[in-house]
Amino acid sequence: MIILAIETSCDETAISIVKRVRAKNVKGEVLSHKILSQIDLHRQYGGVFPALAKREHTKAITQLIAEALDEAGLLVERTYNAPLSLTHRHKLEKLLDREPDMFKALTILFESINKPGIDAIAVTRGPGLEPALWVGINCALALNTVWDIPLYPVHHMEGHIIAGILNYEDGIYEIPELVSPAIALLISGGHTEMVRFSSLEKYKVIGSTRDDAAGEAFDKVARSLGLPYPGGPEISNLASKARNENIIVPENYRLPRPMIYSNDLDFSFSGLKTAVITLIKKVGELDDEKKKMIALEFENAVTDVLVAKVKKACFETSSQTIIVGGGVSANTHIRKALTEMAKTEDYEIFLPDKKLSTDNGIMIAFAGLLAMEQGRAPKAKIEAQGNWSLEEM
Ligand code: KG4
Ligand code: ZN
Repeated sequence: MIILAIETSCDETAISIVKRVRAKNVKGEVLSHKILSQIDLHRQYGGVFPALAKREHTKAITQLIAEALDEAGLLVERTYNAPLSLTHRHKLEKLLDREPDMFKALTILFESINKPGIDAIAVTRGPGLEPALWVGINCALALNTVWDIPLYPVHHMEGHIIAGILNYEDGIYEIPELVSPAIALLISGGHTEMVRFSSLEKYKVIGSTRDDAAGEAFDKVARSLGLPYPGGPEISNLASKARNENIIVPENYRLPRPMIYSNDLDFSFSGLKTAVITLIKKVGELDDEKKKMIALEFENAVTDVLVAKVKKACFETSSQTIIVGGGVSANTHIRKALTEMAKTEDYEIFLPDKKLSTDNGIMIAFAGLLAMEQGRAPKAKIEAQGNWSLEEM
């Protein structure tokens, strides 16, 4: 059983091909893993522009699929081109009428290679930027139309949960058994959610941000410090330099820990961002020392809130297992702080391999394999859902 996964929810075009290995749990070997990041392009504008993201996904996706098939040893070129049937051509024209470049590129691909040995396709349906999501979905629908391969829509945040728990050993990834109930802290550029579940499939969102997502706060604070997009790694770098230099944050640099003692599991990061902007105005012209102190204090503030809320969530729901996922889970300091808390409280904690923290196709492939394992039905029609809740899966 081989699955091809497509992820285009934000600013990475990601394609992975995974071969399921026979086992009780969902286990698989990654045959190819391709990511084309648009970060350099969006960096010029300080953030991700949906129309630009769509254009870049459209330009890149067909070539990336061809490269992934090739890497997986599944690309067999025809000795002569076989034109698409009229029915297929008409269907594709209709499906891709807003993506003429993709129509051209896919037609060339279909006409020049044999149908590959792929048994299923997983594609991110949402949440994310709708124009970007549609590119992956329409591409998946095109592959389904011409190659007749069943299609599984994937929830991007379920992908991040799975990325959090995937075990890796001897070239094989595995979705392990979990001690339930479990808490997932999902911290990405677009979302910040606390999720509770007893089995992968039925998720309850027990907390979320009331304004900015954690990653968004990192990006905005970085921007106000004059650092490039994406801001997470930049802030993290400065903060760890400050820690290595044993810099102590002076009292007048202290930032709030928003909602840390609130009676719920919600978050709010917009006020923290505003506090940083006020602080920047107060301290005057920024130099490297000031930037380091602000980055350190900001990272500490976010970390304190995340740790406190995860601890509260575990306590209130009697959960022993913590899963962390999403781009911000690449943050070394946050990982360390959550791990220490879990150790002290005797909780089991799963953190994604750093490579799988940010968006990737492997997590979408495994979410697809899990959907199949659980008997979820393939879909002939899929629509992008920018605001798809995990509870509505
Ligand atoms: O999950 P992701 O790749 O995309 C979304 O689904 O949004 O997350 C991207 C976010 C960005 O906001 C980025 O700044 C943040 O993850 N990020 C980090 C780090 N690496 C990426 N935030 C803090 N520390 C990092 N090391
Ligand atoms: Zn993501």
